[in-house]
Amino acid sequence: MRALRQDSANGPEDLHLVADAPVPAPRPGEILLKVTAAGVNFADVMQTRGTYEDGPEAPYIAGFEAAGEVVAVGDGVTAPAVGDHVVGTGGGAFAEYMVMRAAGAVPVPSGWSDEQAIGLILNWVTALAALKPLGRLAPGETVLVQAAAGGVGQAAVRLAKHYGATVIGTASPGKHDVVRSLGADRVLDYGADPGTADLVLESVGGAAFAVSLAAAKRVTGRVVVYGVAGGEVAITNRDLNFRRQIHVIGLHLGVLIEHAPAIFAELMAELRALIAAGVCVPGTPTAYDLADGPKALAELEARATSGKLVLRP
Ligand SMILES: NC(=O)c1ccc[n+]([C@@H]2O[C@H](COP(=O)([O-])OP(=O)(O)OC[C@H]3O[C@@H](n4cnc5c(N)ncnc54)[C@H](OP(=O)(O)O)[C@@H]3O)[C@@H](O)[C@H]2O)c1
Repeated sequence: MRALRQDSANGPEDLHLVADAPVPAPRPGEILLKVTAAGVNFADVMQTRGTYEDGPEAPYIAGFEAAGEVVAVGDGVTAPAVGDHVVGTGGGAFAEYMVMRAAGAVPVPSGWSDEQAIGLILNWVTALAALKPLGRLAPGETVLVQAAAGGVGQAAVRLAKHYGATVIGTASPGKHDVVRSLGADRVLDYGADPGTADLVLESVGGAAFAVSLAAAKRVTGRVVVYGVAGGEVAITNRDLNFRRQIHVIGLHLGVLIEHAPAIFAELMAELRALIAAGVCVPGTPTAYDLADGPKALAELEARATSGKLVLRP
């Protein structure tokens, strides 16, 4: 099968199209998917550079989010069934076929294409987790969403507005209109007024991290940290004691699924309700051919993209 293989830790330039990758076989509890759309995530960029924690060693078939049709199931799988369309995560998504755990596969909502369902878990559920169980957002509060034009960021802006928040989004200047069109009340270029946000969604790190910490209200403000796109930075006990009396909360969706399955089940129930209510809407990703995957990842790394990107095998 055709697939994109990462051959080094030198970045997207060493992501290569191969035509002879073996079609994987589903093991017990797994399904085999004929991939129709693979989601591109910032974590893919990090993996090409070997900076994603516990990521695979090159060479490996890249990608970990896909939607498509179930074409075979492993032993013990009762659902989904062959012929169903699902979206989910697993290794080797940038390929014509991939396997994923049956238990983690989510049905593509009826009336949606596979491509429109990309991002349901990695973007919408991540944003939901950051806002609700971890960020404890209440109506009327002010939320600062860093990288608001990105895949997770756009979902977060829509959700925060839905939950009655005042939303401030940050993004590169060329992306401000996108963030405004999602309903953000203010859009900024990675600056923020100190001490004004009840909740900060922080995925950027680097210089933006200090802005995020300063933006949170003293004593009650929460900062949910779920990404390091702009680089690793530190916060000290002295900071928290004397300078920034705030709540810093870490989020990794994979860890949440494994260690807090009850919270994940609540998030999935809320996601279904949001879909039914028309809050979570079909995605409109920018699509690339599988062969152009290296270009898509390079553009994401260079901050030249808005919203979700997908690869078509
Ligand atoms: N913890 C989890 O479970 C989890 C799950 C999903 C995603 N994430 C994280 O959430 C973040 C968003 O993921 P995504 O896939 O939706 O990506 P994305 O937001 O579509 O892309 C990253 C965006 O971050 C902004 N950015 C700011 N500084 C940057 C820098 N130095 N280098 C590159 N980009 C920079 C860019 O937007 P501007 O040009 O507007 O600045 C860029 O478009 C990532 O940090 C990702 O690792 C975490």
